[in-house]
Amino acid sequence: MTTMKAISQHTYGGSEVLQEVELDRPSPGPSEVLVRVRAAGMNPTDWKHKQFAGLVGRLPLVLGWDVSGVVEAVGLGVTIHRPGDEVFGMLPYPHGVGAFAEFVVAPARALVRKPEGVDHVQAGAIPLAALTAWQVLVDAADLRPGQRVLIHAAAGGVGHLAVQIAKERGAYVIGTASAPKHALLRELGADQLIDYRTEDFTAIDPVDVVLDTLGGETAVRSLDTLKPGGQLISIAIGSFPQDLPAQAAARGLRAYPLLVEADQAGMRAIADLVTAGRLRAVVEATFPLAQAAKGHDLGDTGRVTGKVVLTVP
Ligand SMILES: NC(=O)c1ccc[n+]([C@@H]2O[C@H](COP(=O)([O-])OP(=O)(O)OC[C@H]3O[C@@H](n4cnc5c(N)ncnc54)[C@H](OP(=O)(O)O)[C@@H]3O)[C@@H](O)[C@H]2O)c1
Repeated sequence: MTTMKAISQHTYGGSEVLQEVELDRPSPGPSEVLVRVRAAGMNPTDWKHKQFAGLVGRLPLVLGWDVSGVVEAVGLGVTIHRPGDEVFGMLPYPHGVGAFAEFVVAPARALVRKPEGVDHVQAGAIPLAALTAWQVLVDAADLRPGQRVLIHAAAGGVGHLAVQIAKERGAYVIGTASAPKHALLRELGADQLIDYRTEDFTAIDPVDVVLDTLGGETAVRSLDTLKPGGQLISIAIGSFPQDLPAQAAARGLRAYPLLVEADQAGMRAIADLVTAGRLRAVVEATFPLAQAAKGHDLGDTGRVTGKVVLTVP
């Protein structure tokens, strides 16, 4: 059995719990592929699962849900990928985790072809955050041309991709972000920006949809921005106020949480947008796999613009 390097943890805590280890290289089972990882995007769920059991709840644990790489081997019955194919995607959330390694096994249909001309860092930055934005704005909200959407933390990993996807749908896009990030968000297509540090976001004209990335008080106050019949979709699972759906319903609104799911159709749609040059990730920083702890430390600040990506030489 050949071995591989991976970033593993035997306990929960800060980035000091992360260790580079040698593990057995996994083999693809039926319907699975083995991917040689070239880049793996980092997400807040990685920062959080380093600290507590969360939705995965097992140790030792190799984190990482986003992957871009090259198919090394395919399991029984796989027809859509071949060794040598360049692919990207999200490992099934939450239990499929393990991309912060030289190799990872994934269900064949979690992965799609990496667009030509897009490098692995760019492709590795996109899947989880873009699928989340897609599942909120397209699958759940069915955003239509001319509708108005408020995106909280528009400069974050999900937010900056959501801005672009909402514009693709023909929506009027309002984002919250600190002022230094407004120029970038305008470039990505945002129509209106609110500096949440100095302005009251509830003063905007009413919107059809809120993409809530923050939860808590921000989610509660966001109900004030919705048109009659409007909806708030929250991805801030851990801080989603329990009584918000009832509060919303009492006002003729809807509010509900959403957890990203593996979704081949969504991944294909996202890959098409990337291929067409209509969706791109802003990558604030890359770190080699061995320096994964630095990526976690950056993520833990909560101030990342766009994405942080690990590279595997
Ligand atoms: N439910 C799901 O399936 C799912 C999927 C993906 C993500 N999530 C969750 O959604 C949240 C956002 O994820 P992400 O990847 O976008 O996070 P992220 O990349 O870490 O977000 C960082 C951004 O948040 C901005 N920010 C921080 N506080 C803000 C505030 N009060 N108002 C506006 N912007 C603020 C920061 O900008 P400034 O520097 O300008 O403050 C920074 O650019 C996380 O909690 C994540 O765990 C859930």
